[in-house]
This record gives sequence, C-alpha cells and structure tokens, in this order.
Amino acid sequence: MSRGRLLMGHWASSPRLVCWQGPPDFESGLATLVRFQPGERPDRAVTPTWPEGILALSPANADEEPTVVSQTRPAAVIVLAAGEGTRMKSATPKVLHRMCGRSLLEHAVLAAADLEPEHLVVVVRHARDQVTAHLAEIAEQVAGLVVADQDEVSGTGRAVQCGLRALPPLSGTVVVTYGDVPLLSTATLRGLLEEHGERGNAVTVLTAEVADPTGYGRVRRDDSGTVVAIVEHKDASDLERAITEINSGIYAFDATVLDTALGKLDGNNAAGERYLTDVLALARAEGHRVAAVVTEDVWETEGVNDRVQLARLGAELNRRVLQRWMLEGVTVVDPATTWVDVTVRLEPDVTLLPGVQLHGGTRVAAHAVIGPDSTLTDVTVGCGASVVRSHGSDAVIEADAKVGPFSYLRPGTRLGAGGKIGAFVETKNADIGAGSKVPHLSYVGDAEIGEGSNIGAATVFVNYDGAAKHRTIVGDHVRIGSDTMLVGKTPPLVVGDGAYTAAGSVITGDVPPGAIAVARGQQRNVEGWVARRRAGSASAQAAAAAQAREAAADPRTAYDVHGDRRPAGDPGQE
Ligand SMILES: CC(C)(COP(=O)(O)OP(=O)(O)OC[C@H]1O[C@@H](n2cnc3c(N)ncnc32)[C@H](O)[C@@H]1OP(=O)(O)O)[C@@H](O)C(=O)NCCC(=O)NCCS
Repeated sequence: MSRGRLLMGHWASSPRLVCWQGPPDFESGLATLVRFQPGERPDRAVTPTWPEGILALSPANADEEPTVVSQTRPAAVIVLAAGEGTRMKSATPKVLHRMCGRSLLEHAVLAAADLEPEHLVVVVRHARDQVTAHLAEIAEQVAGLVVADQDEVSGTGRAVQCGLRALPPLSGTVVVTYGDVPLLSTATLRGLLEEHGERGNAVTVLTAEVADPTGYGRVRRDDSGTVVAIVEHKDASDLERAITEINSGIYAFDATVLDTALGKLDGNNAAGERYLTDVLALARAEGHRVAAVVTEDVWETEGVNDRVQLARLGAELNRRVLQRWMLEGVTVVDPATTWVDVTVRLEPDVTLLPGVQLHGGTRVAAHAVIGPDSTLTDVTVGCGASVVRSHGSDAVIEADAKVGPFSYLRPGTRLGAGGKIGAFVETKNADIGAGSKVPHLSYVGDAEIGEGSNIGAATVFVNYDGAAKHRTIVGDHVRIGSDTMLVGKTPPLVVGDGAYTAAGSVITGDVPPGAIAVARGQQRNVEGWVARRRAGSASAQAAAAAQAREAAADPRTAYDVHGDRRPAGDPGQE
C-alpha cells in the first residue's frame, strides 16, 4: 500500500483536513505524511509546517532555494479544483471525470508541473476526500504538490487565497489555473509567463476572442487597448456584454500584488462571491501594470461544466493526440473512430485501423498493425505484430506475433515472438513461448507454454477447481490435441517437451517428454441403429442411400466397430 493510500485511510475518517508535512524521508516520491500541530507559521528555512487545511502530498524541489524563480519558472501554480460541478449530475466530482486517459485534474496538474514551479497547490472543497485521494495517487509524478482546503467562503478569489495560505511567503510569479480546463498546455502557460516577465506586469490574464461570449467574463479595455477590468457576465452592462474578448480565468500574478489585493476583496457583486477577477482592478488602482495575452487557441481555455462539454473537449483532445502521432509517422486510417490516450506511445510506421482504442500505458512498436475494432489497455505490442478485432489489457505481444480476430487477452498474458492467439481464444496469466500457437476456441489460464508448441482447437486449461487456482506447464514443441482438458494442479500439471495429447482427452496427470497421453473412451459403432430407431427419418434415408451406393460399387463393403471401412473379405469385429 502506498503511503498516499495510507494517508487516505485516515483522511476518509477525518471530517476536515488536518495538517501534514513532508519530512525529508521521501519513499517512492511521496512524502512520509505526518500529522502536524496547526497554527504554526509556515517557514521553509526550518522544518516546514503547514497551517490547518493543508496537506503536503509530495516533496518540493528539494535542491532549489525557496522563492528564487526564473522568468518562466513560477514561484507557485495554484490549481483551483474546489467547485461542485453540479451540471455534470454525477456522483463523481467533476474534476475526476476522465478524458483521454487522465482525469481532468490530472491534465491540469501535469501541465502546471511541467513549468517546474517551486510550489504546486491544488485547492479543494467539494468532495475533498475523493479529490485528495486522487491527488495522492498522482503525487509521485509531481514535485512539491500540496493540497489546500477552501473554507466555506466562496469565490475564486477566496480559493486562491486559501492556496496561498498553504505556502510560505512568496516573491515572484503565481500562476492560477483550473482543474476542469484539460487542454491548457504548458507551452501556452510559458507564453503567458514570458509576456508577464518581459513586460514587468503585475497581472497578466490569458484571454480569447470568441464568437459567442455568453456566460464568460468580458475583458474591458480603454481606448489605448490597455486592460482595465474584467466584468463577470452577471454583472456586465449591455455594452460590456457585446465585448467578444473573454477572460479564460488563467492568470500570472506578481505574488505580492496578488496577496495584497486578495486581502481587499469583498463579496459586493451579484453572486456575493469574492472574485479573483477583481484583483485586476485593485492592482490597476494601485498603479500596477495589468495586461492580457490573447490566445489563438480557444480550446485551451475551455472548461468542462457538463457531459456535452466533456465529450466535445475529449474529441478535440483526441484529435490533437492523433494528429501528433500522424505527424510522427503513424498511419491512422480513420481518426474519427480511433481513440488514443495521451499516455500511449507509438513508433513510426505503426498502423491503426478503424475502431481502435488504445489506453493507459499501451506501447506499440514499429510496423505493428492494430485493428480494426480493437481495444488495448496497458498492452505492449512488439515490432510487426498484429491485433485484429480483439480486446486486451496488461498484456505483452512480442514481435511478429498475431492476435485475433476475436481474441481476449486478460492481464498477465505474454505472447512470444511469432506466436499466435487466434479466434475466440481467451488467455489470462498465460506465458506463451516464441512461435507457439493457440489458434482457435480455447481458454488458456494460469499457464506456461514453451516454444513452438501448438494448442489444438477448443483446448481448455482447466485452472479452477471451485476453490483454488492451479497451474499447467506445457513444454516446447508439444502438440495438444483438439478438445483437450488440461486439468491444472498444484504442483503444476506438466506436459513434457515434445509430448502429444490425444484429441478429446481429459489430462489430469503429468505427460512425460515425447509421450502421447490418451484419455478418452474407445469408439464403438452400433451398426444399423438409425434404421432401427429413427426409421423413416431423413438421416435413415440418407444412410440407406449411401449404403445402396456403396453396395453397388462393392457388394462386400462393411464397417468395423471403430467406424473404419473394413477391407473386402475382412469379417471384422462384430
Ligand atoms: C491420439 C491420436 C494421435 C491417435 O492417432 P493414431 O493415428 O490412431 O495413432 P496410433 O495408432 O499410433 O495410436 C497411438 C496410441 O494411442 C492408442 N490409442 C488410440 N486411441 C485410443 C483410445 N481411444 N484409447 C486408448 N488408447 C488409444 C493407440 O492404441 C496407440 O497406442 P499403442 O502404440 O500402444 O498401440 C489421434 O486420434 C488424435 O487424437 N490426434 C489429435 C489430432 C489433433 O487434435 N490435432 C489438433 C488439430 S487443431
């Protein structure tokens, strides 16, 4: 159990966030989380302590001096993730909904983390336990991740203030982003920071021109084009509502100016909230420079508020992911039906046929062909392999191996180079050696198969006796006959190298190398049964006609009890 999860056990039972700190023992990237006494002033020069409502999930960049930041390296990024997201109509907090392999919040946090800020704070309130548990899961990827709990005072301004409270006094730039804005890129944030730093701004807001600005805060500029204020839609006059430049809500602030202005915010507006946007006017009133960077890419500023936007932004993100891979040399035959998570990695000359979904940590090597209609999650596909109309997770398909059509690779499957898992085959915890084939209609579970072996159609690795799972080991160059039941045992059932099994056998004991195991009844033919018991049926008529034809060709024709044609003159067994 990770330390983050350990924490959440406590967390879930805690009605309110308590104080934690990260001492220098950082195992697997996560801070050891220790309960801390509230009320102490944060001071990074000595052992850091955190006021009530703060949770440190991962260590800050330990080798960095505090508050020393470059122009594009912010002192802090504050990601707001406190909102309820009622329009999602979901039991899942809005920021935890997923898109292209990550939660909305994870997209936002990782884009922020790539700026390498000295501090990264996520402000939570609604469903704080769930959101914090999720952040603990991703904390290993993010240095200096801190969670701050917003109190019941509402508004983005208050949320940012709660975020700042989580940190020691800062100088430099503070960036504010949102947990429900998944397409915002690190590059755009860097552009914002560059402009902010080069111009010596106190506040730089990211804005966008849109055709329909309804619902957005409008950017009010004076005659010289200088940004003077941002007016929320609810509070805007008709004239202001005609403005098409909208506020993305994404900012770079001078830390001191921000802190001072936040202290002055009141809830004197239509919603009675403490708006972060009012910081602009307050900063301007004190003579500070306020400016805007207009982004060309409106998608990057869009938030998710309902499922329609979730699907729309998801489709756009997927389109961007596919475009990137196509430009890297991947053939995507039908981008409209192909979905690839941002976490997937593809090599040049991979081909994705229509209806492919690649998820999680899936990796596909050059010249592999996936699809049509295949879903792979955390699957590694080797060079030149193919997967046709199949479903796989936590599996490895090595070079030049073939999967499908209609195969189901469950976790723990490894198919060796040049091997085959064919039609209507299910595998689980199965290590199948190079060149070995399971071509049709089989179940292979808890199995090890050597190299060059063939598993006949409709073979079942019988791995469960109703109480426990058992293993089967099949050697190299084995031929398992069709419809063999290999009944696993503990220690494992072993079919030795070069052994055979007879079709239709139930194998319950080990088979020595080179032996054939036959475990089936002897065939017995009951001559004339159809004529006697199914007289007049189509079968009886067909049989009578066949016998008449054969008798005409050779009056002495007959069959033995095994169904083999008896040679002329051979009385056979009766
Ligand atoms: C078992 C099988 C190999 C026997 O083939 P065959 O040509 O009859 O071979 P043999 O005659 O050499 O028989 C092999 C041995 O099995 C024995 N045997 C065959 N059928 C038997 C039965 N029903 N019960 C007991 N023993 C049997 C034979 O007596 C023989 O033993 P012996 O050498 O001591 O006499 C064959 O029936 C079979 O099942 N082939 C599997 C093919 C298959 O499934 N391929 C997979 C394609 S996907």
